[in-house]
Amino acid sequence: MSDNGLFLTLEGIDGAGKSSHLDALEALFRAQGREVVRTREPGGTPLAETLRGLILEKPMDPLTESLLVFAARRDHIVQIIEPALVRGDVVLCDRFTDATFAYQGAGRGFDEAVLSTLERWVQAEAGRAPLLQPHITLWFDLAPEIAAQRLAGARVPDKFEAQPVEFFSRVAQGYAARVAADAKRFVRIDASQSRDQVWQQVETALVARGVLNGSVTR
Ligand code: TMP
Repeated sequence: MSDNGLFLTLEGIDGAGKSSHLDALEALFRAQGREVVRTREPGGTPLAETLRGLILEKPMDPLTESLLVFAARRDHIVQIIEPALVRGDVVLCDRFTDATFAYQGAGRGFDEAVLSTLERWVQAEAGRAPLLQPHITLWFDLAPEIAAQRLAGARVPDKFEAQPVEFFSRVAQGYAARVAADAKRFVRIDASQSRDQVWQQVETALVARGVLNGSVTR
């Protein structure tokens, strides 16, 4: 097991703007000589991308949705994430299990004890104690009303993006609860600021955490 692998995830409600920083983040790590595996959830493997299409488009009950999300995650961990971390790469992942607790748990009101059981089943890996989790999670925190304005008219909404603002209020509360339960892992990014200011926050946080060399980021 390599000690150098870095598992970095980005989280936040739809419209918070997290994905628009992935290109710059990848470039920054590569400029510092790191191999980067850029990926996303649900998705990241052919099987998981197939499941993503179903999860984002087909109506289903919350248990089915949770099982599919975790099935996709298991394939993603086994095929992509774990091998990359063992190689010592940076895994830059757009969403992970925090999204399940926020969307299926808080948003849909699904039983969090069941989600915790699935999390243990899926993320238990030899040598990872107690569970595979991101080393750092950037949480793009934005008021649901502002996110809804940003999303309006941007593209044809998927099943989640089409949810009312009350759903996203619950999802945001779900994220806040996840952060409160594991504060060390999270960096809160104030996503209400301009895109440049948000990027500054991201850079500053990663330098402060010691995973980016500050002298190369300017
Ligand atoms: P994305 O648009 O940021 O790629 O995310 C896809 C959607 O899937 C987003 O609306 C959040 C949702 N989602 C869940 O509901 N549960 C999950 O576990 C994950 C990873 C995403």
